[in-house]
Amino acid sequence: MKTSDPTTTPNFDALARPYRWLEYLTFGPYLQRTRTCFLSELETCRRALVLGDGDGRFTAALLRANPSIHVHAIDASPAMLRALQKSAGPHADRLTTEAADLRQWSPRAGTHYDLVATHFFLDCLTTPEIAVLAARLSPALAPQARWVVSDFAIPATKFGALVAAPLVAALYRAFSILTHLRVRQLPNHRAALESSGWAMESEKKHLGGLLLSQLWHRR
Ligand SMILES: C[S@@+](CC[C@H](N)C(=O)[O-])C[C@H]1O[C@@H](n2cnc3c(N)ncnc32)[C@H](O)[C@@H]1O
Repeated sequence: MKTSDPTTTPNFDALARPYRWLEYLTFGPYLQRTRTCFLSELETCRRALVLGDGDGRFTAALLRANPSIHVHAIDASPAMLRALQKSAGPHADRLTTEAADLRQWSPRAGTHYDLVATHFFLDCLTTPEIAVLAARLSPALAPQARWVVSDFAIPATKFGALVAAPLVAALYRAFSILTHLRVRQLPNHRAALESSGWAMESEKKHLGGLLLSQLWHRR
């Protein structure tokens, strides 16, 4: 695979099977707590667009918690999508999956999602790529749509400099080797979403600010 090309789609297939266990070994329950932090706020949502959800633990939790919701899950990795389908279990009849590179994907005309979910996915994109994605989604979103985000962050504290920054750099190095991800640093997703017409409603920090859960709404 040509890895010097920044447009190469990262390939997470090999991680689909061990992903959950690698996560438990490194972060214990914290990433799942971060993903599901605002789940109880999403009870009125009916059509969700879940982007880059990997093996689908957020999708499974959302389908379980909200029996009226339909989920369209998109990911570049077919192996991750198979794992996501399996995670949905008895709720898979309310799930549609699609394999695509989200840097090129556009929603079908006539769809109206009222929820977008991106958990530890925006950090696979650059800030301009997030802004372009948000602009492409815009015509397919309901006026009251919300966006839930989970992501890593480097807090401006001693812990940020001594622990979070080296840890995030190590994660990027590992993903670069394992998946050929070309992004090397956390994007500024806050700036990209704000410039695309979104406003942050609520934010919760976990593990000293290393992990963020955010709930956004359209302005
Ligand atoms: C770091 S994993 C995060 C998975 C999951 N959302 C979580 O919370 O752990 C990133 C996921 O995004 C997908 N992905 C990365 N870049 C992508 C792209 N450009 N288009 C579509 N999916 C992408 C990967 O296949 C992978 O499943």
